[in-house]
Amino acid sequence: MNQTDTVKPPYSAIADIYDEVMHDVDYETWTDYIDEIILQHHPYATDILELACGTGTMALSLEELDCYHITATDGSADMIRIAREKANQVNSEIDFLTMNFLDINVHKTFDIVFMVFDSVNYLHKDDEFIKLHNEVKKVLKPGGIFVYDFTTPRNSRKAIRFLNNDSKAVEGRFRYHRESSFDGKTRIHTNRFIIQYLNPSDSSVRSTTEEIHRQKIYTKEEIESIIQQTDFTILQAYDGFELKPAHQKSLRITMVLQ
Ligand SMILES: C[S@@+](CC[C@H](N)C(=O)[O-])C[C@H]1O[C@@H](n2cnc3c(N)ncnc32)[C@H](O)[C@@H]1O
Repeated sequence: MNQTDTVKPPYSAIADIYDEVMHDVDYETWTDYIDEIILQHHPYATDILELACGTGTMALSLEELDCYHITATDGSADMIRIAREKANQVNSEIDFLTMNFLDINVHKTFDIVFMVFDSVNYLHKDDEFIKLHNEVKKVLKPGGIFVYDFTTPRNSRKAIRFLNNDSKAVEGRFRYHRESSFDGKTRIHTNRFIIQYLNPSDSSVRSTTEEIHRQKIYTKEEIESIIQQTDFTILQAYDGFELKPAHQKSLRITMVLQ
């Protein structure tokens, strides 16, 4: 699977198979974890904005709890197209919008703004990180909180083993192959997806496209230092999916800011 017809922007060609690529991710447990954090830090929260919501799985799962009014946004129109299709199937009331999280434009304010699954790792520069915090501040109600997770260098080094050469095929629909690498010096984690869409009748290849995702991997200290340059204070830095403090060996850290 080396020859590709086109190289597409991140999260465009992959949108149609994203949920299959992520089929091992336990979004329900992740939703419960975000709900726990909300109960812990802002128990009367009702209005929620999700940034980088992808195909909307988390927002739809959160809506099932019947406690929140949710707006969910993503920079990729293709991911939002899939999110809306899923929302229509369950008569969801979530407002799904295509939006760059560095230019948040909604005529509403929120108790909680959150983003999950290392979406902040798509920010490669400190000033972009600061801009994200400033944008979120504009749409938070007084006392509101901002929750996001990031993945650590330790996680990238470990994850390469199962991410690199990951592949899957669904006859009559698609095949994908992932190459994953981590450069410890630049701390750039690269995932290259080669996607073949197949003809339903005989599984012959209809088109082959490629997407490259590059994430910058930060340490806890680097993220804390960036936050110090914003108007937010850190309420907690949690380890993984626990309500316990993050530490030097944490693979994923969830920040709760006010
Ligand atoms: C790893 S996916 C996570 C998606 C979703 N949160 C999930 O858990 O499945 C990262 C998402 O971040 C989005 N993204 C990356 N940069 C963005 C930006 N500047 N503005 C808005 N969304 C962005 C991508 O389109 C993609 O959907």
